[in-house]
Amino acid sequence: MKKLIYESPSIQKMNGGLMNKFGTRTEYEPVKQIDGVSVHTMMEQYGSPLFVISERTIRNNYQSAVRAFTTRYPKVQFAWSYKTNYLNAVCKIFHQEGSWAEVVSGFEYQKALGNGVPGNKIIFNGPEKTNEELRLAAGSGSLIHIDHFDELYQLIEISDTLKRKPRVAIRVNMDTGIYPVWDRFGFNYENGQAWSALTKIVNSGKMELTGLHCHIGTFMLSVNAYTTAVKKLGDLAWKCKTQLNNPVQYIDIGGGFPSANTLRGSFLPGTDNIPSVDEFAEAITSQLLQLGFSTNELPILMLESGRVLVDDAGYLLSTVLANKRLSDGRRATILDAGVNILFTSFWYDHKITPAQEFTQHTEDMALYGPLCMNIDVVRQSVNLPLLNRGDKVVVHKVGAYNMTQWMQFIQMRPNVVLIDENGSTHLIREAENLQYVEQLEKIPEHLLKIQL
Ligand SMILES: Cc1ncc(COP(=O)(O)O)c(C=O)c1O
Repeated sequence: MKKLIYESPSIQKMNGGLMNKFGTRTEYEPVKQIDGVSVHTMMEQYGSPLFVISERTIRNNYQSAVRAFTTRYPKVQFAWSYKTNYLNAVCKIFHQEGSWAEVVSGFEYQKALGNGVPGNKIIFNGPEKTNEELRLAAGSGSLIHIDHFDELYQLIEISDTLKRKPRVAIRVNMDTGIYPVWDRFGFNYENGQAWSALTKIVNSGKMELTGLHCHIGTFMLSVNAYTTAVKKLGDLAWKCKTQLNNPVQYIDIGGGFPSANTLRGSFLPGTDNIPSVDEFAEAITSQLLQLGFSTNELPILMLESGRVLVDDAGYLLSTVLANKRLSDGRRATILDAGVNILFTSFWYDHKITPAQEFTQHTEDMALYGPLCMNIDVVRQSVNLPLLNRGDKVVVHKVGAYNMTQWMQFIQMRPNVVLIDENGSTHLIREAENLQYVEQLEKIPEHLLKIQL
């Protein structure tokens, strides 16, 4: 039998708190203010429902994540994952802080350019890149992360029409001990695909191999998975140097660190069972330092963190429309914010708090949105004080993926407001109206007239 590899034991901090089997009772404090600004006043001014983003929280999150890595490793670069939240004001905060852009489509690429990010500071990921997009990205010196062999051949095919040699990396997928394995994007490590792609790139002479990339999953609860990922990318990096004579300049470890949201069906609240960014940083950087590269050869560590940097900076403010009793006697409360703007309620049990004083009686209740659709469930069951029609609630940690995956369905998308570091509010995206929703539609001539 093969000898098992020794792994040193580690101690992980657990926050017991005042637990019972339903978790801590964190929802019984009204949240009347966000960053010192009154929730009720914002709703009077900007309407309901309303997304609110805290600039201070984004900057704090970003700075402490950067600190966690730069105190452990000398060369670190973050790139903001556009799909997590690509409202331009949000992206600009990250870029002001020094973050590059990580995009996964031509449309996101254009947004990054529009936000003032130089082409050579854009990482271009994703399985779809048109010839035109590749030409632009190659000409601008962007880091093109190749997803599959067809894209590799596509680049070789158009290479004669490019202004300069494209700077490329490959996305690698691998077994990190987390199942099911995310193997749909990139080239597989274990079956040799990744190595074969690297060999083809270098041998083609048509591209400049600059890096290695992986994004091993999302909402990752295991820091050890990152240790494995760095080991495997490190092995490829070492072989690029020694066998292909092409050392890579960077290793991009992707995103995936969890936010403090509570996953649906999870026993413990998210705040109690997610590893900290420091724990991820320790796992990643200590492994990187063990790869065997000399100090001046160390690859740059790139990170594409999304949700961990922005989720808790976003709030959704909503108004109670009605209360009713369901046929089984349970209370149901209907809010004016539904799943069309709160996509993440399919994944998370979002923390919800009333925004005004309440009586101490609480009840298990269902929270529904305003859509005339059975799927419109914000919380299947949550223990909350009784709420009246017109009361306000705050939905917490909604900054990631909602303002990109939202849709105009039955209801339109609402205003989004940013609270700056001085406590002033700014409208950063206007609520939609009928004219906006219909502006791309065309009516054929024969349908112009109707008679009923
Ligand atoms: C390539 C890539 N990088 C970064 C991210 C950001 O992930 P997360 O929000 O989990 O940090 C994603 C999201 O799926 C991704 O696909």
